[in-house]
Amino acid sequence: MCGIVAAVADSNIVPLLIEGLTRLEYRGYDSAGLALRDDASGGALSRFRSIGRVADLAEQAKNQSATSGIAHTRWATHGIPSERNAHPHMSDGIAVVHNGIIENYVALREMLLAQGYVFSSDTDTEVIVHLIVHLAKTAPDLFTAVAQTCKQLEGIYAIAVIRAADNCVIVSRHGAPLLLGLGDHGNYAASDASALLSVTRKIVYLEEGDVAEISLHGIRLVGAEGALLKIGVDRPIHISTLSAAEVEKGDYAHFMQKEIFEQPEVLAATLEMIGGAQSLSPNIFGATAPDIFADVNSVLILACGTSFHSGLVARYWIEQLAGIPCTVEIASEYRYRVSVPNPRQLVVAISQSGETADTLASIKFAKSLGMEKTLALCNAPESAIVRECALRFLTRAGKEIGVASTKAFTTQLAALFLLAITLGKIGRRISAKDEAEYLNDLRHLPLAVQKVLTLEPAIKIWAQRFADKHHALFLGRGLHYPIALEGALKLKEISYIHAEGYPAGELKHGPLALVDEDMPVISIAPNDALLSKLKSNLEEVASRSGELYVFADADSAITESARVHVLRLPEHYGLLSPVLHVVALQLLSYHIALVKGTDIDKPRNLAKSVTVE
Ligand code: G6P
Repeated sequence: MCGIVAAVADSNIVPLLIEGLTRLEYRGYDSAGLALRDDASGGALSRFRSIGRVADLAEQAKNQSATSGIAHTRWATHGIPSERNAHPHMSDGIAVVHNGIIENYVALREMLLAQGYVFSSDTDTEVIVHLIVHLAKTAPDLFTAVAQTCKQLEGIYAIAVIRAADNCVIVSRHGAPLLLGLGDHGNYAASDASALLSVTRKIVYLEEGDVAEISLHGIRLVGAEGALLKIGVDRPIHISTLSAAEVEKGDYAHFMQKEIFEQPEVLAATLEMIGGAQSLSPNIFGATAPDIFADVNSVLILACGTSFHSGLVARYWIEQLAGIPCTVEIASEYRYRVSVPNPRQLVVAISQSGETADTLASIKFAKSLGMEKTLALCNAPESAIVRECALRFLTRAGKEIGVASTKAFTTQLAALFLLAITLGKIGRRISAKDEAEYLNDLRHLPLAVQKVLTLEPAIKIWAQRFADKHHALFLGRGLHYPIALEGALKLKEISYIHAEGYPAGELKHGPLALVDEDMPVISIAPNDALLSKLKSNLEEVASRSGELYVFADADSAITESARVHVLRLPEHYGLLSPVLHVVALQLLSYHIALVKGTDIDKPRNLAKSVTVE
C-alpha cells in the first residue's frame, strides 16, 4: 500500500527519495510522485508525478537537486490511478503526501469549497493540504497548522508535509505506519525502515497522534496530547537489523522465488528458541503467558489473506492437540458483526506486516468486548498489532518483499504449531513423550522443506501446461483443505488465473459442474487417514475427463496415468505436512506466473501491507 519517504539533509536528497521509493515498491502502488524544496531559488517547491513505475519518476527527476523533500507511492483508494490523483497534492506553496483514508473528507471538502479552495484531484488526501493552508493563515507556524489539521481528520493517516517557506518536513501518523530515521547528515521519515537503509539504521517508531518536525539539526516531537517528547526517552531509538541482502534479489529472478527458497533458513530462525529442548515454556509467548493461558477455554483467530489460511490450519492443530474450540474469522468480517464475546477466549491476531488495518481493528474490537487475552503472531516487531496485544510471538521470516506471501506463511505455521503444543500441554492433553516428539519434528522441518524445494525442476515442467488455462481447482482434505485455499490464492494473486480451493469432499456439491478437459485440478494427497476418501474424490474428477495434478507423499498409493500426473513429496510429515505441501504449491504458482509473464513480485491491484479498510 502507499509508501512515504521524506528527508532533510545537508546534500542532495533526490537519489535517496528515489531509492527509498524503490525499496517501498513491494508494498504495492499504481503511481508515484515527489515534491522537492529548492534552496537555491529561496524555497520554491517543484513537483514530479508519474503513473508508471518509480523508474519513470526517477527519469523525470534525474537532474534535480534539493536538500529537503517528500516522496510517495500511491495505491488508489479514492480516484483512479492518474497523474492528477498522484501525490503530492499541493496548495499555496504547501505539499502533502498521505497514506490511509480520510473518512470525513466529504464534509471537509464542502467546508473548504465554501471557503474558496479549488480542488484539482478526486482524492480524499487533497482536503488535508487545503486544510493545512487554511489553518496556517492563523497558526503561529506550519507545525501548529499540521497538528490542528490532524485533530480534524477522521480515519487513517500517515502524512508528510513540506512548505516552500520552511526548510523542514512535518510528519504525523494515526493508524498507518510511519517512522523517523536519525542520520549523521540529515533526518528522515519513511513508511518502513527498508527505505532508509542507505542513510541510517537509527529508527524511532511514531505512536498514534505524534507530530514531528524534521529538520537538518534535529527533530521536534510532540505527542497526541500536545506534550513535547524526548527522542530516546519517550520514544526509544531502535537500531534496525534489516540487512541490505534482505531487500535485494541476489541471484534469484524474483523476490518471491528468493523467499520460497529462504524457507528452510527462516523456519530454523523462527524455531531457534526451542534449541534442543524436549519441553516448551509458555513464556515464549510473553512473560504473562503462563497466567493468561492457564485460564483460556477457547481460541479465536483473526487475520486476513494468507495469514487467515495459517489460522485455518491452526484450528485443526489446536482442536486436536489442545482439545479446546478454535474459531478462525476474517478480520474484516469479525469487526463488524454481532458476536458472542467470551472473556476467557484467547484472541490471536496473525499478521505478517503487523499493520493490516482490518486485523488491527478486529483486535481492538475484541478488546472493546472485554476480551483482553490477546496474542499477536507477527513478523514485524514494533508494529501496531504487536503493540496492541498482551502477548506476542515474533516470527523470524525477515523482510518479505514479494506481495504474495510465502515464507511469512510457513513461519506463521511453525509458530502456530508451537502454540497448539503449548495449549495442549497446559490442558494436560499432551504427554511429555509426545511433546518431545513434536519438538523433534519441528527441528527437522527446515530440512524437510529443503527436500521439497528439490522438486522445482519437475514442478517447472508441470507449470508449462497451465499457460493457456483460465481456471484451476485446488482440492485438499482436513489439514490440507486450508492449503488448497492457499494454493488457489497464490495462483490467482500472481498468475491471474481464476482458482478456487475446495475441501475435496465438497466437490460433488457444486464445483464438479466446472470440471472438464480444460480445468486442471490440483490435489493435495498426503498419506493420511483421509487418503482413501480423497482418492474417491479424484475418481470423480477423472471420470469427467478432468486432468489431475496430484501432490502425493512417497507412500501415497496413487497411480499415474495419461490424465493423472503425480509428484511425490520426499517425506510424509504427519501433522506438519501442510508446511511441506504449501511449499510445492508456492513453486507451482511461481512457475506458472513465470510462464505467463506476469509481474510476479508486484501483481496488479494488490498491496503488500494493507493499511486501509
Ligand atoms: C495483503 C497481502 C497478503 C497478506 C494480507 C494480510 O493482502 O497482499 O499477502 O496475506 O494482506 O496481511 P498481513 O500482513 O496481515 O499478514
